[in-house]
Amino acid sequence: MGPLFLFIFLSRLILSCNAAGANLTSLVNLFIGTASGAGGSSGGNSFPGAAVPHAMAKVGIDVSTTPRQAGYISDNSSITGISLMHDEGTGGNTAGGYGIFPLFPLTNCSFSTCPVGIQARAALRAAGKDTATPGYFSSTFVNGIILEATSTRRAGLIKFTFPPSSNGTNHVVVDLTNDLQRSFYGGSVSITPSGQVKLQGTFLQSYGTDNYTAFGCYDFNNPVQDNKLSQFGTFQSKSTSSPSSIGITSGNTSLSYPFTSNTSPIQAGVLFRFNATVVTARFGVSFISTNQACANAESEVPDWNWDAVQDASQSKWEDVLSRVGVNVVDEDPTIVELLYSSVDRLCCLRVSLETDPGLSITVISCILGSCEYDGGKSLLGFIVPILRCTLLFLGYIPYSPPSTFDSLTNRMGRDCYIPECRANTKAGYVQGGSDGMPILGDFAVKYGSRASELGVPIDDLYQALVDTAENTPPDWYRVGRQNTAWKTFGYIPTDWVDPSGSTGLPTREASRAFEYAVGDFAVRQAAVTLNKSAEDVAKYTNRSMNFVNHWDSTVSSDGFTGFAQRRYPNGTFAFSPPDACSPVDPTPHSCARGTDNDVGFYESSSWEMSFFAPQSMSTIIKLMGGEETFINRTDHYFSKGYFQAGNEPSFQIPWVYHYANRPDLTALRVRQVVYGNFNTGIRGIPGNDDSGAMAALLTFHLLGLYPVPASKQLLISSPFVSSYTIHNALFGTETNVTVQGFDKATLTKTPPAGSSVHVQKVVVNGVERDTVCWIDFDDIVGGGEIVIEVGPNPRDVGCGEGDAALPSSLEKGGF
Ligand SMILES: *[C@@H]1O[C@H](CO)[C@@H](O)[C@H](O)[C@H]1NC(C)=O
Ligand SMILES: *[C@@H]1O[C@H](CO)[C@@H](O)[C@H](O)[C@H]1NC(C)=O
Ligand SMILES: *[C@@H]1O[C@H](CO)[C@@H](O)[C@H](O)[C@H]1NC(C)=O
Ligand SMILES: *[C@@H]1O[C@H](CO)[C@@H](O)[C@H](O)[C@H]1NC(C)=O
Ligand SMILES: *[C@@H]1O[C@H](CO)[C@@H](O)[C@H](O)[C@H]1NC(C)=O
Ligand SMILES: *[C@@H]1O[C@H](CO)[C@@H](O)[C@H](O)[C@H]1NC(C)=O
Ligand SMILES: *[C@@H]1O[C@H](CO)[C@@H](O)[C@H](O)[C@H]1NC(C)=O
Ligand SMILES: *[C@@H]1O[C@H](CO)[C@@H](O)[C@H](O)[C@H]1NC(C)=O
Ligand SMILES: *[C@@H]1O[C@H](CO)[C@@H](O)[C@H](O)[C@H]1NC(C)=O
Ligand SMILES: *[C@@H]1O[C@H](CO)[C@@H](O)[C@H](O)[C@H]1NC(C)=O
Ligand SMILES: *[C@@H]1O[C@H](CO)[C@@H](O)[C@H](O)[C@H]1NC(C)=O
Ligand SMILES: *[C@@H]1O[C@H](CO)[C@@H](O)[C@H](O)[C@H]1NC(C)=O
Repeated sequence: MGPLFLFIFLSRLILSCNAAGANLTSLVNLFIGTASGAGGSSGGNSFPGAAVPHAMAKVGIDVSTTPRQAGYISDNSSITGISLMHDEGTGGNTAGGYGIFPLFPLTNCSFSTCPVGIQARAALRAAGKDTATPGYFSSTFVNGIILEATSTRRAGLIKFTFPPSSNGTNHVVVDLTNDLQRSFYGGSVSITPSGQVKLQGTFLQSYGTDNYTAFGCYDFNNPVQDNKLSQFGTFQSKSTSSPSSIGITSGNTSLSYPFTSNTSPIQAGVLFRFNATVVTARFGVSFISTNQACANAESEVPDWNWDAVQDASQSKWEDVLSRVGVNVVDEDPTIVELLYSSVDRLCCLRVSLETDPGLSITVISCILGSCEYDGGKSLLGFIVPILRCTLLFLGYIPYSPPSTFDSLTNRMGRDCYIPECRANTKAGYVQGGSDGMPILGDFAVKYGSRASELGVPIDDLYQALVDTAENTPPDWYRVGRQNTAWKTFGYIPTDWVDPSGSTGLPTREASRAFEYAVGDFAVRQAAVTLNKSAEDVAKYTNRSMNFVNHWDSTVSSDGFTGFAQRRYPNGTFAFSPPDACSPVDPTPHSCARGTDNDVGFYESSSWEMSFFAPQSMSTIIKLMGGEETFINRTDHYFSKGYFQAGNEPSFQIPWVYHYANRPDLTALRVRQVVYGNFNTGIRGIPGNDDSGAMAALLTFHLLGLYPVPASKQLLISSPFVSSYTIHNALFGTETNVTVQGFDKATLTKTPPAGSSVHVQKVVVNGVERDTVCWIDFDDIVGGGEIVIEVGPNPRDVGCGEGDAALPSSLEKGGF
């Protein structure tokens, strides 16, 4: 059976098995994580608008206040537009990403004097009226206008319902210039008398220095319910020096602004008047051309059938959500809401741009998630430690069959490096290491044997890994790694100028080195799986261990000794306080990617990053002074407040007790982290969702799983549900996991004494495992039955007897 067939087959099977009868989309709360991140609190920056899974079109409202990375904020700020594309969960630019070609409804004005400018038109929402379910969004203005949206992959419908008394004065603005960042570099708009609008605009990307050009198409000639278009024209600022002073010209059909090297404050667009009280617009978006944008609308929403579009979107979401099956009636309702809201957000990973090899990259996207890569900056970007959690999760529940995988080679042919942190189709900034490497390595390990069946040129994929591990790009802060340094020194030296002429900010040396080691581990893992040469395996195994070269065994902090540090070219370490850049740093430091970061760690502290070697945690334990000190140090890390629940570098740390044979401490710590930091409220995500990275992390925590990147190993702990089923459509399997002795009393931050939170036994298809600390990818997607027995007391033997009971470490010959 081909994947497509399986996919359809499984979705039917799953829906019919949903005994409780509830649809899963009704359990999703899209407003989790939509609180403002203003005043130092960390916003989730979740996007609650209309979208299909992995969509390019993401329709939602944009608010007047910042920060508003996703356009939307749950507060009382006014709306300035309803726009077609958004980021989900990203940090970075507080004005937001995309927000292109917004519409705005106006009533009770006369055509030539309507307030079309972005400040003049801003209007308040009626409190508590915003509604969002997967595939549908609605908001209501205080003046009574209701807006609704639903969408397909690159198109959709937006409906305005005006108050009944408003007849004859209803208008809709189509804004050419105001994206969320107000970063118009030039573009054009044209109208036909029947009400078709074609737009082209160039804007600043949301993370990086490049610009991108997007295309839009609106149709107002609604054949289903006549919009009664009665007047049209253009509007534009009278001058760039007073952009808010705007003239409206009835009957004019086009405007054009040549590209300028600085963003222009000009405001311009189209104004329509309608005699109807319900006005529906169809839209299409594209990165190729305006004609393509119109064709996308025509092909994806051919008959303007609102219910068909919304139903299709909802069933796509039902299908995605059903990949993780739980009994929604019997399980704890809060956990069910958290779980399905998280699966929704992580599959929302906004990466699917048009199948255009010149613009978008399919790298893994197609692989794990089905979609073309691009547009979501976190995809290969800031997915630091646990690395790229979102994609690792999607690896377990691949959604829909992979389409083409043609453009990896294409993009590699031009850039020579695995793309990193792309935003709005352009390269953004490198943040951690080169975080595409563990993702590709993970694919090679899990799906390498089926690569040709999936249409993935696996030898090219391996070459991409090797090229990215070996070559030094001219600008490694845009893509790739500082490999000249890494290979020459075995570490990333401080205050060193690359004789090869490669530029790049000499910052984040220590944290980058830890990430580079994990990247090399990914090459090593791919080499092993794909039967590459023994030389390659040896080389990358060796480099995977180079994180030790940043270990200064003389540095102490809070009574613990041995910390990751920067290092000069002559070998001497450069001291930074290990708590610098931690949440309790007593001294202000720059911790971002700029040259002013002289600590050596990116968005992380040495206290935190010193735990990051998932490829060889036994080495970290040894460097820290043995198991008992390691456990004390991990406990201290949490009690002192060094843990950052809301950012990637801390993702794996609640689980590191496993490596010291103390799975009981992991079980308790994960409960504490989940209940202490996540909830179903608008502040329910402790940091930026980062294109679903936090959502994937929470999903793993709730299922009692934690993936070791670029490997088939999964750490296992005490789930938050009594049973669940993982459906893998590529393999055509469903795997049931049952928690025997499941105890609802453990569903709290500190499980009471005597409650059954500790794993006692793991049985896979009737065979008891020698360890309760890890299982394999093949177990969880193998189709079959896994029984996890829990009880009130930790086991005397921890993970189990013998070294193999512990999760793998390279140093001990693991992997
Ligand atoms: C899904 O459930 C919600 C709430 O129960 C209901 O309003 C909605 O109509 C259902 N949708 C479908 C397609 O069954
Ligand atoms: C909006 O919310 C802010 C913060 O909660 C509050 O200070 C302000 O008074 C509110 N404004 C209105 C108009 O309700
Ligand atoms: C329409 O606008 C006029 C002034 O421009 C105002 O007096 C009137 O109350 C408005 N009507 C409605 C229904 O908003
Ligand atoms: C609005 O006005 C137009 C023309 O005057 C008329 O044909 C239409 O029926 C009116 N609609 C409503 C809802 O009153
Ligand atoms: C922006 O776009 C223009 C025209 O498309 C291009 O020439 C320019 O190099 C781009 N990049 C920047 C950084 O402005
Ligand atoms: C719209 O209404 C105006 C009067 O308000 C009327 O003159 C015009 O003919 C109407 N146009 C259409 C297309 O119904
Ligand atoms: C009318 O459209 C033309 C292009 O056809 C444009 O150059 C001009 O600026 C517009 N005039 C006004 C007043 O909007
Ligand atoms: C690698 O070699 C093993 C043992 O010879 C074989 O089973 C496996 O299929 C090979 N893998 C690939 C990707 O060629
Ligand atoms: C890696 O290779 C270098 C150079 O041969 C050697 O000095 C180092 O000890 C090796 N590291 C490991 C962990 O084997
Ligand atoms: C190594 O270089 C650093 C920075 O230039 C310097 O402070 C230190 O004294 C040097 N160490 C040795 C042993 O020369
Ligand atoms: C670990 O902490 C315990 C409790 O504070 C203490 O008794 C023990 O000596 C510590 N062990 C090490 C190796 O630091
Ligand atoms: C998983 O559980 C469901 C519901 O109990 C059952 O119908 C199905 O056969 C089980 N699948 C496997 C592979 O055991």
